[in-house]
Amino acid sequence: MRPADLWRHSSFRLALGVTLAVLGALIVVGAVGYTVLHRQLADRQDARLMEIFTTLQQSDAADQQDLVDAITARITASPSHSSVFLLRDAAGRVLASNIRDVPIPVGWSIVEAAVLGVQTDYPYRVYAGDLHGDYLVVGLSNADLDDLSEIILTGFGWSALAVLIAAIAAGTWIASKLQRRLSDVTSTLHRVAGGDLSTRLAVSGRGDDLDLISGEINQTLGRLGALVEAMRQVSADIAHELRTPLNRLRIHIEEAARNAAISAPVEDDLAAAIAQSEAIDRTFSALLRIAQIEAGARREKFAPVDLAALLGDVGDVYVEVAEDAGQTLLCDVASAAWVTGDKELLTQAFANLIENAIRHCPSGTVITCRVRAEANRVTASVSDSGPGIPAGERDLVLRRLYRLEKSRTTEGTGLGLSLVKAVADLHGAELALADAMPGLRVEMRFARIVGVS
Ligand SMILES: Nc1ncnc2c1ncn2[C@@H]1O[C@H](COP(=O)(O)OP(=O)(O)O)[C@@H](O)[C@H]1O
Ligand SMILES: [Mg+2]
Repeated sequence: MRPADLWRHSSFRLALGVTLAVLGALIVVGAVGYTVLHRQLADRQDARLMEIFTTLQQSDAADQQDLVDAITARITASPSHSSVFLLRDAAGRVLASNIRDVPIPVGWSIVEAAVLGVQTDYPYRVYAGDLHGDYLVVGLSNADLDDLSEIILTGFGWSALAVLIAAIAAGTWIASKLQRRLSDVTSTLHRVAGGDLSTRLAVSGRGDDLDLISGEINQTLGRLGALVEAMRQVSADIAHELRTPLNRLRIHIEEAARNAAISAPVEDDLAAAIAQSEAIDRTFSALLRIAQIEAGARREKFAPVDLAALLGDVGDVYVEVAEDAGQTLLCDVASAAWVTGDKELLTQAFANLIENAIRHCPSGTVITCRVRAEANRVTASVSDSGPGIPAGERDLVLRRLYRLEKSRTTEGTGLGLSLVKAVADLHGAELALADAMPGLRVEMRFARIVGVS
């Protein structure tokens, strides 16, 4: 991976961000630690210095030689000038010393080695004061303190560098690992974009976030594949089913052409051709309407609908049509039953069911519309005492253009129940076709809304 590519990876940027945060924390901790340690060491050094001074102070005040001896012994014990001394009497004579005789103020101070005439790079911490009338200067080299400070600073510097290198290495490693898995995802999605819906993303099994996303995408691909397959099936069915009416249309036109050639009347053939093309037009319109309902756009028009009143009204329209066919249409829709929905589509769906019963049942059939409101659902049904639909075909009649063998010659498009199914799905209603013993009962179960009057 090139550095420029690396920078584009959020994982790398994240690792770098964490590194900088750690580095910042390290610097703060280092600075605080250094200050505390330095102060403590300096305090300890001052305590040692004070201890030397007071020890010398406790010498016999009357015996100056004893003090000079004590200091001389200490000077001898420190050939490398780690401690320095200067004893001057009231007259200004130096009695004992291992440094140059320079004026040093009373109290605490830090003096450069060169000022004291000592050959070392480190300064001295010095305490000067009166001692039995004499003037004593005691100093300790800062060598240990300075060296220790340097060791601490160098240590912190190296560990900061190590942390930085480790974090960059870890960031690069994580980024390239993630990149490999993401490239897999990208190439799979490319294949999907190319039309291969059977391909799936690899799932590592570790259950990490990428696995979760991959699983989610795989599920979506599965659903998408099933949908596309269903659409393909529907298109194939439609293409297949439409061949018959188109063939009929062609036959009528050919018949007209043949009759025209022998100067025979063609009006009947042309009228039949027009009727056939109108039937094809109706089929296409119905197909389009179902597609529109399935697209769900009409859900925006949903409003509270009293299903009992609606089915009652639809029933009223068909009472006479049923009578003309020698059938009886009864409506048992007593109380109000409110649901949320599209009034026009629901009217169309129930009209289709009643029309089916009238069209596909013989005279003498009793058709019953019923609406029942329960605690939280409303069941609307249309039943008849006709021939019914065999159990094995009750799912098939919901498919577009599917008609029972015996109905092939009756008028119709084979789309009435498909529309009912689309309307039921749009309303989230359960649709069930059952045996009314004898006959067919079509039931739609809606969620009931309460509080509407
Ligand atoms: N009430 C019914 N009784 C018997 N068969 C029915 C009934 N309703 C529908 N069918 C059968 O289901 C098929 C599909 O119905 P539908 O989709 O409405 O198409 P169409 O009524 O245009 O034929 C019908 O062709 C018919 O064979
Ligand atoms: Mg129908």
